[in-house]
Amino acid sequence: MTFNIITIFPDIFYSYFKESIIKRALKNGLIKINIHNLRDWTEDSHKTVDDKPYGGGIGMVLKVEPIYKTVQFLKKERQKSKNKIQGQARYGAGKKTKVILFTPRGKKFNQRMAYQFSQLDQLIFICGRYEGVDERVAKHIADVELSIGDYVLMGGELPAMIIVEAVARLIPGVLGKPSLLKERISKEKGFIEFQQYTRPEIFSPKKRVKWRVPKVLLSGDHKKIEEWRRKHKKIIASRS
Ligand code: ADE
Repeated sequence: MTFNIITIFPDIFYSYFKESIIKRALKNGLIKINIHNLRDWTEDSHKTVDDKPYGGGIGMVLKVEPIYKTVQFLKKERQKSKNKIQGQARYGAGKKTKVILFTPRGKKFNQRMAYQFSQLDQLIFICGRYEGVDERVAKHIADVELSIGDYVLMGGELPAMIIVEAVARLIPGVLGKPSLLKERISKEKGFIEFQQYTRPEIFSPKKRVKWRVPKVLLSGDHKKIEEWRRKHKKIIASRS
């Protein structure tokens, strides 16, 4: 799976992707993340990525041309590349691809979409900024407009990181034990969240207050533990 992220703030991403599970997944070649600075796809000396809105209004709007050029490059890279295998591996182009534009008015992201995206070969993220993005990007370039919730952020960079994380952890081998992930997929094809506890058995935050681990989990009776877990599970999202 290759994530191609188009942004005018590439630096936002580097420290986050340098950590923990994402870092290991990158190192092991299970995922690839390429950050593309939109300014590299401008032609003027000022590297202009935005302009005033037609018809007036406050703020600036991200221009369509540099976004179009970046997405076209990513889609065509495989064919254009002299070394086809290398080009394909680096950009994941020419395979199952979705172009996603982040916007608060988009379809709300959920676990089901994370599963669908994890089956693709390439995701291209367009991170909007400022007051908006030229509408032609939504109309002609993006396959999906995606929101991570009913609130307005300053741009699509945080949503992009969220989707990378939600999708990457579903890719076989990214989490330590794939079997653990399988266990959590219920018969109804939903995704289960179990209640989890660890030591100490009794935690006393203050005098006469005791927070206990449910006894059944300490019993060693696997059948009973399974029953208890099933009874207390929560379905996060349906897969189909
Ligand atoms: N850009 C600004 N707010 C957003 C949101 N809630 N989801 C996705 N992209 C956004």
